[in-house]
Amino acid sequence: MDGQSGSNRAHLDAYWMPFTANRQFKQAPRQLVAAQGMYYTSDDGRRILDGTSGLWCVNAGHGREEIADAVAHQLRTMDYAPSFQMGHPLAFQFAERLAEIAPGGLDRVFFTGSGSESVDTALKIALAYQRAIGQGTRTRLIGRERGYHGVGFGGISVGGLINNRRTFGPLLTGVDHLRHTHDIARNAFSRDLPGYGAELADDLERLVQLHGAETIAAVIVEPVAGSTGVLLPPKGYLERLRAIATRHGILLIFDEVITGFGRLGAPFATDLFGVVPDLVTTAKGLTNGALPMGAVFASRAVHDALMIGPEPAIELFHGYTYSGHPVACAAGLATLDIYASEGLMTRASTIAQCWQDALFSLRSAPHVIDVRTIGLVGGIEIAPREGAPGSRGYEAFVDCFARGLLVRVTGDIIALSPPLIVDEKEIGMIVETIGDALRRLD
Ligand SMILES: Cc1ncc(COP(=O)(O)O)c(C=O)c1O
Repeated sequence: MDGQSGSNRAHLDAYWMPFTANRQFKQAPRQLVAAQGMYYTSDDGRRILDGTSGLWCVNAGHGREEIADAVAHQLRTMDYAPSFQMGHPLAFQFAERLAEIAPGGLDRVFFTGSGSESVDTALKIALAYQRAIGQGTRTRLIGRERGYHGVGFGGISVGGLINNRRTFGPLLTGVDHLRHTHDIARNAFSRDLPGYGAELADDLERLVQLHGAETIAAVIVEPVAGSTGVLLPPKGYLERLRAIATRHGILLIFDEVITGFGRLGAPFATDLFGVVPDLVTTAKGLTNGALPMGAVFASRAVHDALMIGPEPAIELFHGYTYSGHPVACAAGLATLDIYASEGLMTRASTIAQCWQDALFSLRSAPHVIDVRTIGLVGGIEIAPREGAPGSRGYEAFVDCFARGLLVRVTGDIIALSPPLIVDEKEIGMIVETIGDALRRLD
């Protein structure tokens, strides 16, 4: 409570908040103090329906006892163990369990501490792979406009969100970008994947013509872009990208940090779309958000190509202090058990129609210019206010929070991704609250 009183704000000063308007926030803080199931509790004691699974990560809902127990047990058994030239059983067990459900059969698993680390790891593996197979001139990385791949220098270099890039200098050299696929004029209110835009995958072919295939190591895309505002791949786009990448010896990386672990109604986007990349990055739902952890899935071809040189030699000079952290592995194993026993890896597919119908009911709400859904992801795009882009989105976000709903906004797009345990009633509450907020906007 005291976080909100004007006289007692000094204690908010030390914490430099990430991706936050710090000064604005500290004038009127929004704080969460507890979480259970589909709900947070705010510091003023209100129940807040979680429309975003935290930050797209708490797929099985909050406060899962099984995860808490596994974490507490592991902390007491062995809090930490190094993973460089040393091992511990949970990391091997977790990797093996992940290999059983690996997207597209990519069953070699490298652990990281976050989505950003997963992205940088995948980019580095791609470069190392090309070199290992005698293609050392392939050093270029290709990303996509509006892509979000975390905040490491690799991730922001291949990423395509201007605010995340422009203050940080020249970034990685040799990076180029595909155009993004967002096209409201042709695809607004598509209930299925957007019908137009598969030809945008040919941008990769154009970059090959421009730079030479022999200079390009990998292309990375989010199969469904989340943080940039829920952009679905046009029909046939990913297939076309795969074909072009294969034709030119370019590795294809899917960033599944958001789409992994059931978000789209299949375990991974790779499974849903039936397009198999060479590397898949994950994090978030890997541990149900309970502890920070990421994982990169690699094909055997990529992995095995790097298992070269004399046996005493380290094959990949890469890793993190917290790679395969035992407590995170314990959280991850417990998470996989929950996903399996509650069918959460596919549950979104059974409720997706209800979700879509509910969100599409906002089609005629004020300012709405597009609605997009897939699995349990939703994007509601509203027209920007003249001269003040993002202001409507932000006001809608604040309004929803005041009325007991957590949504995420990026510019003027409301992005939704509730825990995969959400029910029809809660979906109704989400849509009603957003509809009311939109009607209050000028
Ligand atoms: C597609 C994608 N990649 C990478 C990341 C970065 O993950 P983290 O914030 O765990 O570093 C995110 C985070 O939202 C993401 O959506």
